Amino acid sequence: MNPAEQQYTHTAVAHANIAIAKYWGKRDEQLNLPLFDSVAFGVNDLCTQTTATWSDEATEDALYIDGWHVPLQRIERMQRMMDIIRTQKGWSKKCVLQSHNAFAHSSGLASSASGAAAAAYAMSCAAGLDLSPAELSVLARHGSGSAARSIHAGWTRWRAGSQADGSDSYAVQFASPDHWPLNVFVVQLSSARKPVSSTECMKQCELSPFWQTYCAEAFAAADIAQKAVTDRNFGALAAAAHHNAMMLHALIMSCPQPVCYFEPQTIAVVQKIFKMSTAIPVCCTIDAGPNVVVLCEDIACPFVKNEIMAIGVPFIQTTIGGGTKTAA
Ligand code: DP6
Repeated sequence: MNPAEQQYTHTAVAHANIAIAKYWGKRDEQLNLPLFDSVAFGVNDLCTQTTATWSDEATEDALYIDGWHVPLQRIERMQRMMDIIRTQKGWSKKCVLQSHNAFAHSSGLASSASGAAAAAYAMSCAAGLDLSPAELSVLARHGSGSAARSIHAGWTRWRAGSQADGSDSYAVQFASPDHWPLNVFVVQLSSARKPVSSTECMKQCELSPFWQTYCAEAFAAADIAQKAVTDRNFGALAAAAHHNAMMLHALIMSCPQPVCYFEPQTIAVVQKIFKMSTAIPVCCTIDAGPNVVVLCEDIACPFVKNEIMAIGVPFIQTTIGGGTKTAA
């Protein structure tokens, strides 16, 4: 890198977030504008570190993930974020992103969220922009909808907004990680690339015979989840999490071209958590993939850990945290 480019370089770290009331369905596909509000928590240990460099010498925009050059046609969403910054700066510089994941990408572990959030933060800082959290959330949303929430640590709510340009569709933190320090187990059952992307599957779901029913339930889900978290009411959180996740997967399985993200062990883990949740403060959720994310209070933690170990599945034990910041 020549010295002139060094001043246009910045490295950021962003974390995955896991939704309890999920984002599924868009009111604008180009701008990643959701139909409904969603509620999620940031996860420590699942993170992406990205270095952005704006360059007059590079001949094209580029993204490298763990050293692998991603083909140009697959970085269109990253380029949407780059274009927003180019327009703001009046630049024609190209942007090169070097990204490293601390977990397997495209495996339903929300790497698109941490990836787009880290890229948004790195490329805006590298361009010398000092964006507000709301502006950063909007920028990250262009890279991947769920990335709007990864800007913040703790519990976030992404408001769907009503503006056609998406200017009021960004996430805000409503509870810090300390508000309710729950334990998180990320049960990783597959690191293979998903058979159908979230983006594609969301579109398919609008053709399900259950779509309208899903929408009626999803409309209220964020309020219910936020109240459970604000009140630290574990029973209400478990009920909200289980209902939302099962409804999502029932919808996904009912598409004209059905998709089943579950692996056999997904069912084994979910059944065990459901059973335990009738007696102790534990619950789980599943994104568009086979992996299960488990939440529990301290009192249940040793027992839950033993039960997950007894199934014999790989897992990461971590905590609620996350957020996006300059790399140390
Ligand atoms: C199941 O954010 O990956 O994880 O906006 O098309 O990039 P795009 O979709 P994406 O969808 C995430 C879906 C989910 C639920 C959630 O995180 O809320």
